[in-house]
Amino acid sequence: MNIHTWHSRYVLQALWTEKLRQFLLTKANAQPGEQILEVGSGTGALFPGFESRGLRVVGLDYKPKRCLYSLPFNSQRTVICGNAYDIPAADHSFDLSVCHYLLLWLKEPERALAEMARVTKPGRHVIAFAEPDYQSRIDYPEIFQEIGEVQNRSLEFQGVDLSIGRRMGAMFRGLGLRNVNVGLLAGEWKEPSPAVFDAEWDMIAYDLGGLVPVDEILAFKLKARETWLSGRATVFIPTFYAYGMV
Ligand SMILES: C[S@@+](CC[C@H](N)C(=O)[O-])C[C@H]1O[C@@H](n2cnc3c(N)ncnc32)[C@H](O)[C@@H]1O
Repeated sequence: MNIHTWHSRYVLQALWTEKLRQFLLTKANAQPGEQILEVGSGTGALFPGFESRGLRVVGLDYKPKRCLYSLPFNSQRTVICGNAYDIPAADHSFDLSVCHYLLLWLKEPERALAEMARVTKPGRHVIAFAEPDYQSRIDYPEIFQEIGEVQNRSLEFQGVDLSIGRRMGAMFRGLGLRNVNVGLLAGEWKEPSPAVFDAEWDMIAYDLGGLVPVDEILAFKLKARETWLSGRATVFIPTFYAYGMV
């Protein structure tokens, strides 16, 4: 996938969590002019949402191409190309530190969270906006169950922790963060539309790519599309958030 396709994928993912992120920023008392650090910021899909609240954005990602992509000409953003395990910033530098679909990819998520806590001002918040628990997914009917099982195998093969979601409370509290709150992204399913199916299918097909031959993916798609458009499908991946005070 090229960088534009990655960006579109992240923008779609960001749409699912838009209301939740604004709710959590309000809970964390984010005020205009404050500085927010997003760790694992990717192509910057979340940046416009922070900027719309008047926050000053600092991103951090270890992929140079993504860092560059997230810095359009004339933007007021700062993006650091660095590692979540060793954030190149002084203690207590930021008003808020956040991440979004990052921890599931990390071998040592607690280490990244500890770094986020270190660079956040005392009395302010570390927020993980969204981390899925693929291990407890609901896929119905059978065709979606089959697809879900293969998608999980493929994600695990890529190094994803399939049960990071349920561990959020333990990780946040284990780090000594105070007033930790954990919750779930709610779901609402509108009338099934071909556009929504196609956009979401592109992501699933990408995840299946490493394990399933192309003709099988196409066969899966035909069957899944028909079931989806008839309104019989339920696909739900519980996605957790957590926030706590330094
Ligand atoms: C699934 S993407 C999410 C991007 C962005 N947070 C969003 O939601 O649009 C995860 C990002 O974390 C970055 N990442 C993974 N491990 C990292 C690490 N150890 N240090 C810094 N960035 C990392 C990846 O390069 C990728 O851009």
